[in-house]
Amino acid sequence: MCGIVGYAGGRPAVPILLRALKDLEYRGYDSAGIAVLDGDRLAITKKQGKIANLEAALGPAPAGTVGIGHTRWATHGRPSDRNAHPHSSCDGRVVVIHNGIVENYAALRDELQARGHTFHSETDTETVAHLLEAEMAAGADLFEALARTARRLEGSQALVAMSLDEPGTLVAARLGNAGGIVIGFGDGETVVASDLAAVLPLTQEVAFLADGQVARVTPAGAEAKTVTGEPVALQRKRIPIDPVTALKGQYPHFMLKEIHEQPEAIADTIWSLATLDPPALYFDDLGPAADRLADIERVVLIGMGTSLHAAMVGQRYIEAFAGIPADADNASEFRYRDPVLDDRTLVISVSQSGETVDVLEAMAVARQAGALQVTVCNTAGAQTTRVADGTVYTRAGLERGVASTKCFTTAVVALYLLALRIAQAKGRLSDRELALHLHDLAQLPRAVSEVLRQRDLVRKRAVSLAAAQHVLFLGRGLAFPVAMEGALKLKEVSYIHAEGYAAGEMKHGPIALIEPSFPTVAIATRHALRTKMISNIEQIQARGGPVTGVVTEGDAELTALCDAVLTVPAVSSWLEPVAAVIPLQLLAYDVAVHRGCDVDQPRNLAKTVTVE
Ligand code: F6R
Repeated sequence: MCGIVGYAGGRPAVPILLRALKDLEYRGYDSAGIAVLDGDRLAITKKQGKIANLEAALGPAPAGTVGIGHTRWATHGRPSDRNAHPHSSCDGRVVVIHNGIVENYAALRDELQARGHTFHSETDTETVAHLLEAEMAAGADLFEALARTARRLEGSQALVAMSLDEPGTLVAARLGNAGGIVIGFGDGETVVASDLAAVLPLTQEVAFLADGQVARVTPAGAEAKTVTGEPVALQRKRIPIDPVTALKGQYPHFMLKEIHEQPEAIADTIWSLATLDPPALYFDDLGPAADRLADIERVVLIGMGTSLHAAMVGQRYIEAFAGIPADADNASEFRYRDPVLDDRTLVISVSQSGETVDVLEAMAVARQAGALQVTVCNTAGAQTTRVADGTVYTRAGLERGVASTKCFTTAVVALYLLALRIAQAKGRLSDRELALHLHDLAQLPRAVSEVLRQRDLVRKRAVSLAAAQHVLFLGRGLAFPVAMEGALKLKEVSYIHAEGYAAGEMKHGPIALIEPSFPTVAIATRHALRTKMISNIEQIQARGGPVTGVVTEGDAELTALCDAVLTVPAVSSWLEPVAAVIPLQLLAYDVAVHRGCDVDQPRNLAKTVTVE
């Protein structure tokens, strides 16, 4: 979704903004633009397509030290130079960049046109520039003009604006859940952005705006208030940055690098929540949720995409370890039904970014029903962590590839430990059992490293799958979410149509598709209801369908049966989803590379989805 950045300081703004926009590229975008103070005017340059187009159009950049930049992911109005942000007021003295949807933009535009404003784009965003202009003409300064404008906007928005009338100032607003606004405090310079990736290269000292807050940002710092005028004390925090995870290093793509970071990310996640000696669980960020886990009678896990697949694995852990009913649901469906929740229900939201709008809206429903909430999140200070009663952080580091990889496996590991923590709170986990679980977890990073060593084998498989038009992924039990995830990865990055199915469901329809040109990937590891999977594989082969099996090392029977196999080392049954997903991630990556696809920025996709 749209990326936002603003800079106010002492250095030329354009190079800083361009670099920040590149740091935001992973969010997905179709056009990019910059506005910078240039003497007595605001110089705007914007271009459809990649940031390279914007750079080419910029020519000799103005030397101004205050400016804003934007990557756009179209909602209202097709991708074009004209619809790219920033958008300006009639007199060109106010410019604005935006993430979200102004739901009442048509009514506002009619009203503003009737008052003499002229519009230049098809976007909803432009109404904001004209509203700011009108409020300033009525005597408000930019900060107050944004607060007043914010009160008129329906829907969720993140906004940054600047005006020629207040040359050293930027203003920003967060309204609802259209992505975050983070302010970074440097030495004589301040940066404001939609996410940390654009801020951390400049400073690690940050503060987040909450829903309904606006900020005034200057080189000296920032102040904030609510849209209705109550002062807000910005809570500053220091965010650690690992400069290595921010760069591609030896890898051609972030996705491949992040796949290879999994052994370390998994280990970091495990040992930030547990110790082996003595065997113990530590959940430092559970807050008030910690004491209420014993009273929980039911768990609902919510998430979207890859995070939903992790939640589906977590559901199975909670039922098995804690012995209470657990369901996993798509957050966007959950919020629009009438979920039955009460204060004995624990809602666990899983979100890498912590800013996915569907998840945040579902959390609002859960809050209203009085449910206890814990979020499993990879982003310090993100919105889900502020809404939930407690947080379990995954330690995957920054994930830039649009296709999520290390955030899936670390979320599964975090959910495993959280399930143990709930079991412990409910008196269902002995010290000995905990020690055994932790021992199994301790083996996992090495097992994942071993799978990564099969890269050449996977690459060969990828060459034969790359010509397919459709691929079916099958799994049972814990391997069912893995099949879903394998299919999602493949379709996201290679644009091959893929479906993940519960293997038992296969005979109830999908089997009609099977023919020699329709390959199947079957997850049939040691514990994934292997004998049932063997029957499924035979049924497919009887209809001429080629099968690639993901099997446990040394499984001679399945190796002989399948047309090809990718192997994973033997791990505990509960951890097979983590081991088995790795070859599927590599497979999707290699198929995509073979087909010449843009792996890190697949078409139409956004890293953080902030519109419904
Ligand atoms: C898939 C992918 C998406 C995200 C989904 C949820 O590779 O990245 O499906 O998993 O958009 O995002 P978060 O986890 O940030 O809530």
